[in-house]
Amino acid sequence: MCGIIGYTGVKEAQEIMLDALEILEYRGYDSAGLAVCGRDGCVRIRKCAGRVKDLRLLCEKDGIQGTCGIGHTRWATHGGVSDANAHPHKFGRVTVTHNGIVENYQDLVQRYHLEEKLKSQTDSEVAAAVLDHFYGTDPLAAIRKTVLKLKGTFALSIMFDDIPGVIFAVRNVSPIVIARARSGSMLASDVTVLGQYSREYFVLPEFYVAVLKEDGVELYDMAGETAEPEWQAVNWDVDRSSKGGYPFYMEKEIMEQPQVIRETVIPRIQGGIPDLSEDGIPDGLLADCKRICVVACGTAMHAGLVGKALMQSLVRIHMDVELASEFMYTDVIVDEDTLVIAISQSGETIDTLEAVKHAKKNGAKTLAIVNVRGASVARASDYVIYTNAGPEIAVASTKAYTTQLAVLYLLTGRMAYVRGIFGAEEAKAFAKELMRVPEVMQKVLDRKEEIHYIARSILNAQDVFMMGRGLDHAILLEGSLKLKEISYIHSEAYASGELKHGTIALITEDTPVVAVVTQEKVKSKEFSNIKEVQSRGAGVILFIKETFGPEKEASWENVFTSVFTLPAMEDGFMVMPASAALQLLAYYVSLDKGLDVDKPRNLAKVVTVE
Ligand code: G6P
Repeated sequence: MCGIIGYTGVKEAQEIMLDALEILEYRGYDSAGLAVCGRDGCVRIRKCAGRVKDLRLLCEKDGIQGTCGIGHTRWATHGGVSDANAHPHKFGRVTVTHNGIVENYQDLVQRYHLEEKLKSQTDSEVAAAVLDHFYGTDPLAAIRKTVLKLKGTFALSIMFDDIPGVIFAVRNVSPIVIARARSGSMLASDVTVLGQYSREYFVLPEFYVAVLKEDGVELYDMAGETAEPEWQAVNWDVDRSSKGGYPFYMEKEIMEQPQVIRETVIPRIQGGIPDLSEDGIPDGLLADCKRICVVACGTAMHAGLVGKALMQSLVRIHMDVELASEFMYTDVIVDEDTLVIAISQSGETIDTLEAVKHAKKNGAKTLAIVNVRGASVARASDYVIYTNAGPEIAVASTKAYTTQLAVLYLLTGRMAYVRGIFGAEEAKAFAKELMRVPEVMQKVLDRKEEIHYIARSILNAQDVFMMGRGLDHAILLEGSLKLKEISYIHSEAYASGELKHGTIALITEDTPVVAVVTQEKVKSKEFSNIKEVQSRGAGVILFIKETFGPEKEASWENVFTSVFTLPAMEDGFMVMPASAALQLLAYYVSLDKGLDVDKPRNLAKVVTVE
């Protein structure tokens, strides 16, 4: 949460930062700001509540020239959404941007007598004030002393008035990556934004101080000793971070799914069998564990639920899916026989990260399924499998989710094989069906206008219910989240058999129901449940495996509001085409309501506070 950018070099910092903040905006969009050290050596700030486009207007009217600056896009935690609470914050000779939460900020206010001196309600300004308090002439000493006083999480980028052209950075938990740009040095909250400026970056280690100058970056540990950064290559194409002609990133990312699923799966099929050896996953890890426990949040947690249904039915292993935010507080049992799988697009979700650390302390083996290379969750885990989704910019996750599913299929297939549940032929058949996913999903995407038409029937709904059984229920939980987060329609996904235990009281002719039917073993029960809601007046939009339909499509017309036939795969894989259809449904509802599809209100893509 909150995006940080910093640049020092030979180019105008303001322009570079505004462009970068536009990309980083998915980390928060309550306010935006930047500080630039001008040619006269003075640090000036422009900031406002609102979006980066509002900041750009401000800078167009009254810009700041200079080649060194720090910028910020905010997701408000401490202190409401206001100009004053927007970052950067300047206190005395120190200007900072901050991502994270300084939990003891009230104690610090008292201790350093700041009550009358602060201009905002933020914990971040307090960090600037403490830095200023400790700053004499040695910036590294001031930073060291300050971080010892801060409790909580922080990524700080810092400029000192009397050290023009230099940016300092330090962090605890909250991420900062640093790059050598062609024209100078840069820092950012994540690597997505750096691809167009640099091909090389490193993750700032926790409690190390980076010093960015026009001609390079220095790294110091807390004792003031120099350290060597671990440089790595930026592995994302620049054009993957652009909208590529689509009106919103979300549509582009939905449409990219066949390609990125292919890129995730194909390198991991060897001799026709799922194979994770290139990822360094030992077969023993998969063969010996007695239990699996997924920790994840939001969409990634929903991917875990699909994984659970697959693993339990194919591998017959006990698997739990825990909300990472609850994991540490609900006495979940994990031990040395448990494989804890952390799923996270960003790899920076604080709850998921803390859950991994907690699981390790309890002796569990940990495996991360992460999209962003080198992210905190990946580094904290014993093993990592990267999804090759490329940068996902829309706040609502789509391609990250389906590539997470692809990895879970690979894991399931490999686990069944190494445990002797699948022979070579079964493992090959499983992998073959998985490799068919991109082509089948493409068939759904090619019919996107059909789904656009269907979306119109729920445009004005206040409430939508979604129903399905087994795997269909698992994907509807995600389909329902997608709809509510970007369309603001209240939506709930129910296991069909549960509806009658209370929720059916809410079903009327004004509550459209979305039903997904792709599983042969529950198909007839599912149709009975659909009849139950239809008898209460609900119109039903049906997504059904094409081979399940009645002989004549015309016979559906009087029964359902709309029907979308999903191209057939084996039942266990129908999750993939169905997910694409539900993503498109949510997308078109949001689009036709005229909403900001990529940046839904109150949300942020990367949640780095608990
Ligand atoms: C936020 C995002 C969701 C995402 C969740 C977990 O809430 O808006 O799209 O599913 O965080 O994020 P992660 O990066 O851990 O997958």
